[in-house]
Amino acid sequence: MTVKEKSDKYLVKNYSREDIVLVKGKGSFLYDEKGKEYIDFGSGIAVNGLGIGERRWKKAVIGQIKKISHTSNLYYSKPQAELAEELCRRTGYKRAFFCNSGAEANECAIKCARKYSFDKYKKGRSDIITFVNSFHGRTIATLSATAQESMHDFFFPFLDGFVYTEAGDFEKFKKAADKKTVCAVMTEFIQGEGGVLVQDKEFIKKVYEYCKENDILFIADEVQTGNGRTGKLYAFEHFEIKPDIITTAKGLGNGLPIGAVLMGEKVEETLGAGSHGSTFGGNPAVCAGALSVLKSIDEELLKGVIEREKIIRDGLSECKCNITGMGLMLGIECKDKNYVIKECAKRGLIVLGAKNKVRLLPPLNISITVLLRGVNILKEVLNSEV
Ligand SMILES: Cc1ncc(COP(=O)(O)O)c(C=O)c1O
Repeated sequence: MTVKEKSDKYLVKNYSREDIVLVKGKGSFLYDEKGKEYIDFGSGIAVNGLGIGERRWKKAVIGQIKKISHTSNLYYSKPQAELAEELCRRTGYKRAFFCNSGAEANECAIKCARKYSFDKYKKGRSDIITFVNSFHGRTIATLSATAQESMHDFFFPFLDGFVYTEAGDFEKFKKAADKKTVCAVMTEFIQGEGGVLVQDKEFIKKVYEYCKENDILFIADEVQTGNGRTGKLYAFEHFEIKPDIITTAKGLGNGLPIGAVLMGEKVEETLGAGSHGSTFGGNPAVCAGALSVLKSIDEELLKGVIEREKIIRDGLSECKCNITGMGLMLGIECKDKNYVIKECAKRGLIVLGAKNKVRLLPPLNISITVLLRGVNILKEVLNSEV
């Protein structure tokens, strides 16, 4: 049986996959089992931010595996402590919690917000506001938080305690944000899965101020926007606010699973011993890799992200398609996203989709030459759409 046949026979059918078997990669290139080369404009959905097998990351991970690859959280672990220290130092947050995925990071943030409110106000103030078109994960709680009707099928009952309102409409937000019942707001700064929609800065600032005045926590879901993707280490820096809680994942691990929750002053003491945990969370090999990722995301790399964004926008300007997003998280409106994805793959370029758009999430350090090659392929394909 081929890999495809075996997968179709034995794997749960929950993914719709392209007919490509990827067997190896290097930097911004991927290779399939027939040896065909692809330029990677997807980074495994914003995960391989420094490209496949980045030298320092690989050395850090392998070095740690040679020492010890798992300890559990019953004991102290150097890579975990150092990663937490570096995250706090770089962001100004007070403490970090580690888990294995974006959904799990958001679960932790939800629990933290509810406990913060319970500790202070007792029961009844547990609602969390989220925005239409958001995406916060696939667990029951994070699906309940995800304000997209298409995600609210089959798996009933979903959880109570999430209030949906429209991004950009402050009056509607205020109506929803009853300080007697609402403990937090949770939002992405760019709704990635929702179609690469950038939140309006003035709206976010108003929401943030309102939250501050009413002791409503502001949770930023930076699972996709985090770790240099938008040209800042975390996207909140573009919005001139300081969320109470940040969740992140994807690019922090550069290919190994990690989720992180960064806690600000208000909530740094909220989760005490026994209130939350994760067996694999903070795994030493993953943390050693993530620490090297953070160290690689320096001013030069971040400047390069903005430079590369401009190259993409300029390169596609003739196509006259609307481009949304920030940094190297871009959405391109096109007639037929599926055609573009398939046709690009045929020509050796991996791009992704998000709602009706083609989504680009190339490695942050992709070389300019390779970037231009990819942009040219994409331009040809967009121009060939009928
Ligand atoms: C903004 C956002 N939050 C949460 C998630 C869920 O992350 P994970 O798939 O790692 O659970 C995603 C995944 O795409 C995401 O983009």
